[in-house]
Amino acid sequence: MSSAVVKYSREGPVALLTVDNPPVNALSREVRAGLLAALARAEDDDEVVATLIVCAGRTFIAGADVSEFERPPQEPHLPELTLAIENASKPVVSALHGTALGGGFEIALASHYRIALPATKVGLPEVRLGVIPGAGGTQRLPRLIGLPEALRLIRTGESITAEQALSMGAIDEIVPTGLTAAAVDAAIRLAGPGSVLRRTGLLPVASTDPAVFDEALRQASTQQRHLEAPLAVIEALRAAATMPLGPGLRRERELFLERRASPQAAALRNAFLGEREVARVPGLAPGTPTRPIHQVAVLGAGTMGGGIAMCFANAGFDVNLFEADAQALERGVATIRKNYESSVARGGLAADEMRSRLSRIRPTLQWPDLANADLVVEAVFEDREVKRQVFEKLDAIAKKGAILASNTSYLDVAEIAEFTRRPEDVVGMHFFSPANVMRLLENVRTGKTADDVIATVMKLGKTLGKVAVLVGGCDGFVGNRMLAQRTREAWFLLEEGALPQQVDAALVNFGFPMGPFAVSDLAGLDIGWRNRKSRAHLRKAGVRDCDLLDQVCELGRLGQKTGAGWYRYAPGSRAPLPDPAIEELITAHSRARGIARRVISEQEIVERCVYSMINEGAKILAEGVAARPIDVDMVWLHGYGFPAWRGGPLYYADQIGLAKVLDTIRQYADHFGADFWAPAPRLCELVASGKTFY
Ligand code: NAI
Repeated sequence: MSSAVVKYSREGPVALLTVDNPPVNALSREVRAGLLAALARAEDDDEVVATLIVCAGRTFIAGADVSEFERPPQEPHLPELTLAIENASKPVVSALHGTALGGGFEIALASHYRIALPATKVGLPEVRLGVIPGAGGTQRLPRLIGLPEALRLIRTGESITAEQALSMGAIDEIVPTGLTAAAVDAAIRLAGPGSVLRRTGLLPVASTDPAVFDEALRQASTQQRHLEAPLAVIEALRAAATMPLGPGLRRERELFLERRASPQAAALRNAFLGEREVARVPGLAPGTPTRPIHQVAVLGAGTMGGGIAMCFANAGFDVNLFEADAQALERGVATIRKNYESSVARGGLAADEMRSRLSRIRPTLQWPDLANADLVVEAVFEDREVKRQVFEKLDAIAKKGAILASNTSYLDVAEIAEFTRRPEDVVGMHFFSPANVMRLLENVRTGKTADDVIATVMKLGKTLGKVAVLVGGCDGFVGNRMLAQRTREAWFLLEEGALPQQVDAALVNFGFPMGPFAVSDLAGLDIGWRNRKSRAHLRKAGVRDCDLLDQVCELGRLGQKTGAGWYRYAPGSRAPLPDPAIEELITAHSRARGIARRVISEQEIVERCVYSMINEGAKILAEGVAARPIDVDMVWLHGYGFPAWRGGPLYYADQIGLAKVLDTIRQYADHFGADFWAPAPRLCELVASGKTFY
């Protein structure tokens, strides 16, 4: 009675339950049912003395089956399985390799013995999807490792190594190799005379100070502000500490089901599934070939070029880092080294790994060194003429079939492509700063970009550990084009009566990690200033424009790097301090413009900053610059810190109700004029037909 995904076999007196549900042995309904049936068979088999749960393939059960996410939970439920394991009359051993996460780790926790290979990782990452472990994880882990560690791990969703798990008591043994054989031995030992079964659920939770809960609440309120699942975790662990297993499990299940049905969990699922969704490009056949990429060249060793070179070196590519200017090259390489060294100092990178990454980056001033590159990423000055020279030169030098990518933020990639005689090989790869950290990669296609080039840069995104979103050409692509709306409204809010700290606080309360003014202080105000200057000729007479940024920059206040920007900074500190000088500058500006300053509500700040983005997002969709709402949302989640628990700007709009969003946009259009607030036709159509973005 083996099922397709759970095989029953015997190894002497031990029943082997082998889960084989590629690729990650996700805990589907079939796996749960198969394990329950196989466990019952082992219990009934008189020749069996113990049961072993192992997994085929590259990992132990790595978590839930995402395809079941949007359906109601199906029987048999996981808690039934974990209880059956724990209550089995014969010992059950779990043999772990790869990643034993979520439900997989809960099965291990319910077993009577856990044995693992050294490279195994275990954890309960449920909070990241807005839920809590729902099959005993919150009740059993604290019984094994104590409350404080269990609280920390489940609240943050962090996974730990086998070594750490062993030292905490979450697993019982690590074997270097021969996992199944060692696990069979352990099972026989456990079934032997004199051995008493250790049922996790019957262990006491080591008594600890109830202050651990206050501490966990304090940390959740600062590090995980707005998130509901961490609070439910704390609640479930409180139950573990104060109740016997049965009632504790019931409380856990209630909390789990509540969280599973919550809007936050739905939004986080959208964000999670979105990572796979954006990798599938509509219109691109799934089997589209990719071009082989081994040798990479990066042009320009400035802020972006250095970070991009690190990205590729981190992923194992050889990178020629080319500069026109010897000093700039030296500076760029020194910055790369400094960045790696600080990762080593923080313990995030081994020193020998740093050396091998650095050795993959080869600085050069010689054009011929680019001739072998399979991919060239250009990150030189944002200047059309400079890009023209560089791409003409690349066209002459790069080998046939090489992909020529530009990291431009605003220039027209289609025009850059025409600087070459091979526009089909040209694409945008728009990284975000710092490029070695930020997960977003906007890949920009032109009308001429070849399909295999698109397929290659999308696949590369994954290889680099990025979330790659394919977008079309337009001013600012998806991310910066929407950002421009928010930035403009934020400046207008200042001249109408708000202060930077008030706008920032409203957006932080909304869920952004930082407000727009604090962000521009961090990035450097000169970036936006330069941008404004370069587009001055695009401004139309009679259309409202706020030049507060220019005024702040003209004072030499360029943000954190000059000790002052929209805020001031104490020496050596990055904490933004509201500055009376800025308040004075803003109020004088309002006066000069004849604007009577008024009290502006938090609601208005959020609506004007976020709804203006939503309206632009609707235009972006209608123009086909982004193929689907999820593409727009993933850009904002991974490039700009839009709160994942709100799902992304367009997902959020659907939740508010598009009719309400449109109505508010119309009110702003009535009040402020249609220059910036004319409702996007796509939004009007959706509302008229009762549809949503998704
Ligand atoms: P940067 O000024 O820090 O670096 C540009 C580097 O290019 C300089 O080191 C310069 O010496 C070098 N360079 C100039 N002409 C060259 C040539 N002909 N050949 C080789 N090297 C040359 O500029 P940054 O900020 O790194 O920007 C580079 C590109 O990345 C621009 O297109 C920019 O729009 C884009 N970008 C910038 C972001 C940012 O936050 N700074 C974010 C995303 C894209």
